Amino acid sequence: MPESQDSQEIRQWWRTSIIDMEPGKIAFRGHPIEELIGNVSFPQMIWMMVQGKLPSEAEAKLLECALVAGVDHGPQAPSIAAARMAATCGLGLNNVMATAVNMLGDVHGGAGEQCALLFYGIADLISEGASLDNAVCQGLDHWRANYGKIVSGFGHRFHKPVDPRAPRLMELVREAAAAGTVSGSFADIGESVQKELGRQRGDRPIAMNIDGATAVIFCELGFPPPLSRGLFCLSRAVGVLAHGWEQMQQGGRNKGPMPPRFLPKYERKES
Ligand SMILES: CC(C)(COP(=O)(O)OP(=O)(O)OC[C@H]1O[C@@H](n2cnc3c(N)ncnc32)[C@H](O)[C@@H]1OP(=O)(O)O)[C@@H](O)C(=O)NCCC(=O)NCCS
Repeated sequence: MPESQDSQEIRQWWRTSIIDMEPGKIAFRGHPIEELIGNVSFPQMIWMMVQGKLPSEAEAKLLECALVAGVDHGPQAPSIAAARMAATCGLGLNNVMATAVNMLGDVHGGAGEQCALLFYGIADLISEGASLDNAVCQGLDHWRANYGKIVSGFGHRFHKPVDPRAPRLMELVREAAAAGTVSGSFADIGESVQKELGRQRGDRPIAMNIDGATAVIFCELGFPPPLSRGLFCLSRAVGVLAHGWEQMQQGGRNKGPMPPRFLPKYERKES
């Protein structure tokens, strides 16, 4: 029987190329779920869901390295502290996780998105004929004109001048480039930006942080900039879950950001 106009309109209200689901059938991007289960890794599944096609094992392995590197940075990280506080307020784990993920913004955990934009902009300048050094300087000038002095993906409150995650991730990108999995050009760009920022700070080296290093990988793998932030949220959600759960095991009720005997400074304002 031909579909009525109403039923066509209803079916087209939500259109998706991600999943084909009907009673007794679940297929993602054309692959029946029963063929995926047991045959693809979680990083391959993430990639296929957001990018549309299954990646090679080598590509998925590099993505996995980025996801592993970002899982946690302890209760000094605002998102983890917030998750633990939320866990003492009687929330369930879903709300605990949402509390933390909501804090991954431009300055904490979400910086990879702007960093990827910077890297892609520099890559465009190189493809137009600029040298790596010139493209990096132009990219940074453009950045500062639009966003100010602080460049996302670089600098760290604790790890000065080296964030131990970044050199290891760059080493893995270099290995993947040697194997032909990626080009390695974004590792060149990331490390040149790092060098130039250090030079511009009066030859004081600056760390490439986890957002910068994972942005290199996400660019190498061809993910659009907003996905840098989304993928980092997936990774950090693991640490958030672990801390929320640990806090629930420890107990504690209504914990604020400091032990109660320490109070915020009261600043009297003359009206
Ligand atoms: C993380 C961050 C808050 C650390 O700041 P910090 O502890 O004040 O940094 P440092 O003490 O090491 O360095 C201070 C100096 O370097 C500069 N600096 C720090 N990070 C910089 C960056 N990303 N780009 C350019 N300059 C930077 C500061 O402006 C300051 O310069 P000054 O001495 O001339 O005033 C900061 O680097 C930042 O906001 N980075 C970008 C956001 C980001 O990537 N967040 C994810 C963190 S994992």
